[in-house]
Amino acid sequence: MQHPFLIVNRIYLRRLAKEDMDGNYFQWLNDQNVTRWMRQGIFPNSYEAMTAFYDSQAMSRTDIVFAIVVKEQDRHIGNIGLHSINYVFRSAEIGIIIGESDCWGKGYAAEAISLLAGHCFKRMNLNRLAAGAVDENIGSIRAFEKAGFSREGISRQAYFCEGQYHDCINLSLLHSDWLEKNHGSI
Ligand SMILES: CC(C)(COP(=O)(O)OP(=O)(O)OC[C@H]1O[C@@H](n2cnc3c(N)ncnc32)[C@H](O)[C@@H]1OP(=O)(O)O)[C@@H](O)C(=O)NCCC(=O)NCCS
Repeated sequence: MQHPFLIVNRIYLRRLAKEDMDGNYFQWLNDQNVTRWMRQGIFPNSYEAMTAFYDSQAMSRTDIVFAIVVKEQDRHIGNIGLHSINYVFRSAEIGIIIGESDCWGKGYAAEAISLLAGHCFKRMNLNRLAAGAVDENIGSIRAFEKAGFSREGISRQAYFCEGQYHDCINLSLLHSDWLEKNHGSI
């Protein structure tokens, strides 16, 4: 394991590193199959765009991006980000991409979301986590639900994907839900 930060059964999270841009990560964002239900995939990816994104989060205390790494083979399969962290409202948003499509449907996203949510509540003292997914992105919605998130509303026609407007399903997880559903107590 390279610089592990949060560790669970099959995966660990570490801070995204500049060297990650030399791996498959670059091409995930050009892969229309991966970006199908995302805001990415509209413009071709570039090192300049990736570097700007990397630099913006590297020293940030309001946006943190973690690499999701499968322990076996130490394989970087995706990223999970904690965004718009608000230290007054104690809230943040989670976004996730499993870029290696052969790793879909194996429970890695749900595992990564649960791991990060635990850290948000136990160490960062956050109270509310939010996420959003296109209504047809069943895998994403299910992964957040498996990690304890509940649907709380719909942003109508918030995305344009696959030639039409799609609603965004808004999900959230409160600290109190997390205590009740997953752990009972810290
Ligand atoms: C969406 C995504 C994060 C899901 O990751 P994943 O690791 O495949 O998800 P998990 O394996 O943890 O699956 C969670 C649940 O969703 C189900 N699922 C996964 N993909 C699915 C799909 N395409 N259709 C239906 N169900 C699916 C799984 O079976 C599992 O449910 P179960 O435990 O009840 O069987 C991943 O496919 C991905 O990154 N896609 C491209 C980028 C993207 O869309 N990111 C999310 C933007 S909001």
